[in-house]
Amino acid sequence: MLNVDRVHTYYGDSHVLHGLSLKLDAGRIVAILGRNGMGKTTLIRTVAGLTPPRDGDVLLRGRSLRGQPSFAIAQAGIALVPQGRRIFRSLTVRENLLLPTSMLSRPRAGRWTLDGVLEEFPQLAERIDNLGGALSGGEQQMLAVGRALMANPDTVLMDEPSEGLSPRLVLQVGEIMRRLREHGLAVMLVEQNLALAMSVADYIYVLSSGQFVFEGTPNQLSQSPEILDEHLGVSRRKASA
Ligand SMILES: Nc1ncnc2c1ncn2[C@@H]1O[C@H](COP(=O)(O)OP(=O)(O)OP(=O)(O)O)[C@@H](O)[C@H]1O
Ligand SMILES: [Mg+2]
Repeated sequence: MLNVDRVHTYYGDSHVLHGLSLKLDAGRIVAILGRNGMGKTTLIRTVAGLTPPRDGDVLLRGRSLRGQPSFAIAQAGIALVPQGRRIFRSLTVRENLLLPTSMLSRPRAGRWTLDGVLEEFPQLAERIDNLGGALSGGEQQMLAVGRALMANPDTVLMDEPSEGLSPRLVLQVGEIMRRLREHGLAVMLVEQNLALAMSVADYIYVLSSGQFVFEGTPNQLSQSPEILDEHLGVSRRKASA
Protein backbone atom coordinates (compact mmCIF):
# COMPACT_ATOMS: atom_id res chain seq x y z
CA MET A 1 0.00 0.00 0.00
CA LEU A 2 2.49 2.59 1.23
CA ASN A 3 6.21 2.63 0.54
CA VAL A 4 8.51 5.20 2.06
CA ASP A 5 11.76 5.00 0.12
CA ARG A 6 14.91 6.58 1.57
CA VAL A 7 13.34 9.94 2.39
CA HIS A 8 15.41 12.91 3.51
CA THR A 9 13.38 15.75 4.98
CA TYR A 10 14.55 19.22 6.00
CA TYR A 11 13.19 22.30 7.71
CA GLY A 12 15.23 24.95 5.94
CA ASP A 13 18.85 23.91 6.44
CA SER A 14 18.00 21.59 9.29
CA HIS A 15 18.27 17.97 8.08
CA VAL A 16 15.73 16.03 10.18
CA LEU A 17 15.04 12.70 8.45
CA HIS A 18 18.08 10.80 7.20
CA GLY A 19 17.06 8.30 4.57
CA LEU A 20 14.08 6.52 6.16
CA SER A 21 12.47 3.56 4.40
CA LEU A 22 9.42 1.62 5.48
CA LYS A 23 6.58 -0.47 4.10
CA LEU A 24 2.95 -0.61 5.14
CA ASP A 25 0.36 -3.08 3.80
CA ALA A 26 -3.44 -3.01 3.90
CA GLY A 27 -4.92 -4.51 7.06
CA ARG A 28 -1.72 -3.91 9.01
CA ILE A 29 -0.62 -1.58 11.79
CA VAL A 30 2.95 -0.33 11.69
CA ALA A 31 4.19 1.66 14.69
CA ILE A 32 7.01 4.18 14.72
CA LEU A 33 8.37 4.62 18.24
CA GLY A 34 10.74 7.31 19.41
CA ARG A 35 11.30 9.92 22.05
CA ASN A 36 10.50 13.63 21.80
CA GLY A 37 12.01 15.44 18.85
CA MET A 38 13.29 12.33 17.04
CA GLY A 39 11.33 13.10 13.85
CA LYS A 40 8.06 11.20 14.26
CA THR A 41 5.79 14.07 13.29
CA THR A 42 8.17 15.04 10.51
CA LEU A 43 7.83 11.53 9.06
CA ILE A 44 4.04 11.83 9.14
CA ARG A 45 4.24 15.29 7.54
CA THR A 46 6.54 13.85 4.88
CA VAL A 47 4.07 11.11 3.96
CA ALA A 48 1.10 13.50 4.02
CA GLY A 49 2.86 15.96 1.73
CA LEU A 50 2.95 18.75 4.33
CA THR A 51 6.75 18.77 4.41
CA PRO A 52 7.76 16.95 1.21
CA PRO A 53 11.05 15.06 1.19
CA ARG A 54 13.99 16.73 -0.49
CA ASP A 55 15.35 13.36 -1.51
CA GLY A 56 13.77 9.90 -1.71
CA ASP A 57 10.15 9.18 -2.46
CA VAL A 58 6.80 8.13 -1.02
CA LEU A 59 4.79 5.64 -3.10
CA LEU A 60 1.12 4.84 -2.69
CA ARG A 61 0.05 1.62 -4.44
CA GLY A 62 3.30 1.79 -6.36
CA ARG A 63 2.77 5.33 -7.62
CA SER A 64 5.05 8.15 -6.62
CA LEU A 65 3.51 11.03 -4.67
CA ARG A 66 6.42 13.27 -5.62
CA GLY A 67 5.36 16.87 -6.16
CA GLN A 68 1.77 16.19 -5.09
CA PRO A 69 0.25 18.81 -2.77
CA SER A 70 -1.24 17.59 0.49
CA PHE A 71 -4.85 17.86 -0.70
CA ALA A 72 -4.05 15.59 -3.66
CA ILE A 73 -2.47 13.09 -1.28
CA ALA A 74 -5.60 13.19 0.89
CA GLN A 75 -7.64 12.67 -2.25
CA ALA A 76 -5.48 9.67 -3.13
CA GLY A 77 -6.48 7.97 0.13
CA ILE A 78 -4.07 9.00 2.89
CA ALA A 79 -5.74 10.54 5.95
CA LEU A 80 -4.07 12.18 8.91
CA VAL A 81 -5.10 12.15 12.57
CA PRO A 82 -2.86 14.94 13.79
CA GLN A 83 -0.93 15.24 17.02
CA GLY A 84 -3.07 17.06 19.59
CA ARG A 85 -6.22 16.01 17.64
CA ARG A 86 -6.85 19.54 16.23
CA ILE A 87 -10.61 19.36 16.32
CA PHE A 88 -12.62 22.57 15.96
CA ARG A 89 -13.69 23.39 19.50
CA SER A 90 -16.39 25.86 18.52
CA LEU A 91 -17.99 23.61 15.89
CA THR A 92 -20.35 20.76 16.72
CA VAL A 93 -19.38 17.12 16.39
CA ARG A 94 -21.48 16.92 13.21
CA GLU A 95 -19.76 19.99 11.73
CA ASN A 96 -16.35 18.65 12.67
CA LEU A 97 -17.14 15.42 10.83
CA LEU A 98 -18.59 17.04 7.72
CA LEU A 99 -16.20 19.95 7.19
CA PRO A 100 -13.04 18.27 5.82
CA THR A 101 -14.79 16.10 3.23
CA SER A 102 -16.79 19.11 2.06
CA MET A 103 -13.43 20.54 1.02
CA LEU A 104 -12.42 17.59 -1.19
CA SER A 105 -13.29 18.29 -4.80
CA ARG A 106 -14.11 14.65 -5.52
CA PRO A 107 -15.06 12.97 -2.22
CA ARG A 108 -14.09 9.29 -2.20
CA ALA A 109 -17.05 6.94 -1.88
CA GLY A 110 -17.09 4.16 0.68
CA ARG A 111 -18.56 2.90 3.94
CA TRP A 112 -17.51 5.98 5.93
CA THR A 113 -20.45 8.31 5.57
CA LEU A 114 -21.70 10.31 8.55
CA ASP A 115 -23.99 7.38 9.42
CA GLY A 116 -21.17 4.88 9.00
CA VAL A 117 -18.89 6.80 11.36
CA LEU A 118 -21.65 7.28 13.97
CA GLU A 119 -22.42 3.59 13.83
CA GLU A 120 -18.75 2.81 14.48
CA PHE A 121 -18.57 5.37 17.32
CA PRO A 122 -21.97 5.45 19.08
CA GLN A 123 -20.49 7.76 21.70
CA LEU A 124 -20.12 10.42 19.01
CA ALA A 125 -23.73 9.89 17.93
CA GLU A 126 -24.83 10.74 21.47
CA ARG A 127 -22.79 13.93 21.34
CA ILE A 128 -23.59 14.88 17.74
CA ASP A 129 -24.85 18.41 18.51
CA ASN A 130 -22.31 19.15 21.25
CA LEU A 131 -19.41 21.47 20.61
CA GLY A 132 -16.03 19.86 20.02
CA GLY A 133 -14.61 21.77 22.96
CA ALA A 134 -17.15 20.15 25.30
CA LEU A 135 -15.92 16.61 24.58
CA SER A 136 -13.59 14.64 26.83
CA GLY A 137 -10.07 13.90 25.60
CA GLY A 138 -11.06 10.37 24.60
CA GLU A 139 -14.11 11.60 22.72
CA GLN A 140 -12.01 14.22 20.95
CA GLN A 141 -9.61 11.50 19.83
CA MET A 142 -12.57 9.45 18.58
CA LEU A 143 -13.80 12.52 16.71
CA ALA A 144 -10.36 13.06 15.16
CA VAL A 145 -10.36 9.45 13.93
CA GLY A 146 -13.96 9.68 12.72
CA ARG A 147 -13.16 12.87 10.83
CA ALA A 148 -10.20 11.18 9.12
CA LEU A 149 -12.39 8.21 8.14
CA MET A 150 -14.95 10.50 6.50
CA ALA A 151 -12.48 10.89 3.62
CA ASN A 152 -12.68 7.10 3.05
CA PRO A 153 -8.92 6.68 3.15
CA ASP A 154 -7.14 3.37 2.72
CA THR A 155 -4.18 4.56 4.79
CA VAL A 156 -4.48 6.36 8.13
CA LEU A 157 -1.57 8.19 9.76
CA MET A 158 -1.98 8.63 13.53
CA ASP A 159 0.32 10.99 15.40
CA GLU A 160 0.56 10.14 19.12
CA PRO A 161 -3.14 9.37 19.63
CA SER A 162 -2.53 8.32 23.24
CA GLU A 163 -0.99 11.67 24.23
CA GLY A 164 -2.71 13.12 27.30
CA LEU A 165 -5.18 10.26 27.68
CA SER A 166 -5.79 8.18 30.79
CA PRO A 167 -4.69 4.53 30.72
CA ARG A 168 -8.30 3.43 30.22
CA LEU A 169 -8.69 5.71 27.22
CA VAL A 170 -5.36 4.54 25.80
CA LEU A 171 -6.80 1.02 25.78
CA GLN A 172 -9.80 2.40 23.93
CA VAL A 173 -7.53 3.99 21.31
CA GLY A 174 -5.87 0.59 20.85
CA GLU A 175 -9.29 -0.95 20.32
CA ILE A 176 -10.14 1.68 17.68
CA MET A 177 -6.94 0.90 15.79
CA ARG A 178 -7.65 -2.82 15.79
CA ARG A 179 -11.07 -2.08 14.32
CA LEU A 180 -9.52 0.04 11.55
CA ARG A 181 -7.23 -2.88 10.75
CA GLU A 182 -10.23 -5.24 10.63
CA HIS A 183 -11.79 -2.88 8.11
CA GLY A 184 -8.71 -3.46 5.96
CA LEU A 185 -7.11 -0.06 6.49
CA ALA A 186 -3.37 0.39 6.63
CA VAL A 187 -2.46 2.22 9.84
CA MET A 188 0.78 4.06 10.53
CA LEU A 189 0.95 4.83 14.23
CA VAL A 190 3.53 7.22 15.62
CA GLU A 191 3.88 6.92 19.39
CA GLN A 192 5.93 7.33 22.52
CA ASN A 193 3.66 4.88 24.33
CA LEU A 194 5.58 1.61 24.11
CA ALA A 195 2.84 -0.52 25.69
CA LEU A 196 0.24 0.69 23.20
CA ALA A 197 2.49 0.09 20.20
CA MET A 198 3.47 -3.35 21.50
CA SER A 199 -0.16 -4.34 21.96
CA VAL A 200 -1.48 -3.28 18.55
CA ALA A 201 1.35 -3.16 16.03
CA ASP A 202 2.20 -5.91 13.58
CA TYR A 203 5.60 -4.40 13.02
CA ILE A 204 7.61 -1.69 14.79
CA TYR A 205 10.31 0.78 13.76
CA VAL A 206 12.30 2.74 16.34
CA LEU A 207 13.31 6.25 15.30
CA SER A 208 16.28 8.04 16.79
CA SER A 209 17.54 11.40 15.46
CA GLY A 210 15.91 10.85 12.09
CA GLN A 211 17.19 7.30 11.56
CA PHE A 212 15.68 3.89 12.22
CA VAL A 213 17.76 2.06 14.78
CA PHE A 214 15.49 -1.01 14.94
CA GLU A 215 12.80 -2.73 12.94
CA GLY A 216 11.02 -5.93 13.80
CA THR A 217 7.99 -7.50 15.42
CA PRO A 218 6.83 -6.48 18.92
CA ASN A 219 8.20 -9.78 20.12
CA GLN A 220 11.62 -9.05 18.64
CA LEU A 221 11.59 -5.59 20.20
CA SER A 222 10.77 -7.00 23.62
CA GLN A 223 13.91 -9.12 23.24
CA SER A 224 16.13 -6.13 22.44
CA PRO A 225 16.89 -4.64 25.87
CA GLU A 226 19.60 -2.34 24.53
CA ILE A 227 17.16 -0.68 22.10
CA LEU A 228 14.50 -0.34 24.80
CA ASP A 229 17.06 1.09 27.19
CA GLU A 230 18.91 3.44 24.89
CA HIS A 231 16.13 4.69 22.63
CA LEU A 232 12.88 4.22 24.51
CA GLY A 233 13.93 4.89 28.07
CA VAL A 234 12.91 1.50 29.43
CA SER A 235 15.41 0.24 31.98
CA ARG A 236 16.81 -3.24 31.42
CA ARG A 237 15.35 -4.52 34.65
CA LYS A 238 11.88 -3.27 33.77
CA ALA A 239 12.12 -4.71 30.26
CA SER A 240 12.96 -8.18 31.50
CA ALA A 241 10.44 -8.10 34.36
N1 LIG B 1 8.63 23.59 11.76
C1 LIG B 1 9.87 23.27 12.16
N2 LIG B 1 10.94 24.04 11.85
C2 LIG B 1 12.18 23.70 12.24
N3 LIG B 1 12.48 22.61 12.95
C3 LIG B 1 11.46 21.80 13.29
C4 LIG B 1 10.10 22.08 12.92
N4 LIG B 1 9.31 21.10 13.42
C5 LIG B 1 10.14 20.25 14.06
N5 LIG B 1 11.43 20.67 13.99
C6 LIG B 1 12.59 19.95 14.55
O1 LIG B 1 12.69 18.70 13.90
C7 LIG B 1 13.05 17.67 14.83
C8 LIG B 1 12.00 16.56 14.81
O2 LIG B 1 10.75 17.10 15.26
P1 LIG B 1 9.41 16.25 15.25
O3 LIG B 1 8.31 17.20 15.56
O4 LIG B 1 9.32 15.49 13.99
O5 LIG B 1 9.65 15.26 16.46
P2 LIG B 1 8.65 14.25 17.17
O6 LIG B 1 9.36 12.94 17.21
O7 LIG B 1 7.32 14.29 16.53
O8 LIG B 1 8.57 14.83 18.66
P3 LIG B 1 7.33 14.81 19.71
O9 LIG B 1 7.32 13.46 20.32
O10 LIG B 1 7.71 15.87 20.68
O11 LIG B 1 6.07 15.13 18.98
C9 LIG B 1 13.20 18.37 16.17
O12 LIG B 1 14.55 18.63 16.37
C10 LIG B 1 12.40 19.63 16.01
O13 LIG B 1 12.93 20.66 16.83
MG1 LIG C 1 5.46 14.81 17.20
